[in-house]
Amino acid sequence: MRNNVSRGDLDTLIDHLKGDDPKLTHGPNVERFEQEWSSWLGKSRSVMVNSGSSANDLTLLALKYVHGTGEVIVSPLGWVSDIAAILHANCKPVFVDIDLDTLAPSAGAIENRVTNQTRAAILVHVLGLPALKPDHVEFFTSNPQVKLIEDVCEAHGAKVGTHRAGSIGWVSNFSFYYAHHLTTVEGGMVCTDDPKVYETVRMLRSHGLVREVSDGPTRNSIVSSHPDLNSEFIFEYFGHNMRPTEIQGILGLAQLARLDQNNLARTRNFTKFLNQLDNETFLTDFALEGSSNYAFILVLRDKDFEKRDKIEQVMRDNLIEFRRGLSGGGNQTRQPYLQREFPDLDPTKFPNAEHVHNFGWYIGNYPDLDPNDIDWLCEVLNS
Ligand SMILES: Cc1ncc(COP(=O)(O)O)c(C=O)c1O
Repeated sequence: MRNNVSRGDLDTLIDHLKGDDPKLTHGPNVERFEQEWSSWLGKSRSVMVNSGSSANDLTLLALKYVHGTGEVIVSPLGWVSDIAAILHANCKPVFVDIDLDTLAPSAGAIENRVTNQTRAAILVHVLGLPALKPDHVEFFTSNPQVKLIEDVCEAHGAKVGTHRAGSIGWVSNFSFYYAHHLTTVEGGMVCTDDPKVYETVRMLRSHGLVREVSDGPTRNSIVSSHPDLNSEFIFEYFGHNMRPTEIQGILGLAQLARLDQNNLARTRNFTKFLNQLDNETFLTDFALEGSSNYAFILVLRDKDFEKRDKIEQVMRDNLIEFRRGLSGGGNQTRQPYLQREFPDLDPTKFPNAEHVHNFGWYIGNYPDLDPNDIDWLCEVLNS
């Protein structure tokens, strides 16, 4: 991966710091970034937080406070914080396997696991591949009791039909960590059209404080029901401090101006990579429509451990940096934190996640990656 914070971004930050008594804690630049992000995405409200994992956590806590605890459907392939957030909110993860062309569960697989305890499903748009197909949209529209949470931490700018990924679900989450499509060094966003979720997440981001509620009448009605408390210090929830700083807001605004253009370059790189890759050895038939690539996806067709080890050795010998198991380390149900919680959980029940766990890698992609390097990378891998 390459540092995507440009000289221009840093100069903008320095201009702010050189100003007269610059504000550094969460303030107007964060608010402007939240508004511009919402317009870019096509959601009415966004709350910036200090990481994508915090966005996951606050989303699941909002689910618990607004709709109650219960089961949450999730795939074993994503990132630890999707599942950790479910556990932190006292909900129960219900795992469904992925399809290999989208790296996400099909609508049918989700539907099969719905019970009267199901509160939500988290769909991760893995490495820029849109997880939602028309039948998912149809399913969530006709089952409004199952809230759709889109994890778009790896897919900023991906499209589902004419809509941006993250604009369709009940709530969507983004990460702005270092190598992502847009970075604020550390950072994340919770996006929604639901005013109740918005106000709840604003409170939870800031210790559960009622003074964070943006809507005056809502805030006043909570305040007036606690005449014994100082209105500045009413803790509606036992929340967290997950606030970002102005520095992150300024970086976000500067980066947003380049996001679409950067995404085109990343997607061009990925297409060039897939077009040259030997499609007898590697999977190349991913569902690319609307994708916004984050990192190259490399998956062996055969379940061949010997070939896998050889490929890893060749990548190491050629100083090609890679991660096995894609961005999250593969099948989460193999991880100790889940095995401890659910000793009967059998990872082999999810054969496609297992395939990616054992035979899948990701390799960095970034807007100014040299096309000659992509040619060379494919030559090495194909040989
Ligand atoms: C799918 C997914 N969700 C959530 C996160 C968490 O984001 P962060 O690293 O900003 O905490 C990541 C991390 O990159 C991710 O890939």
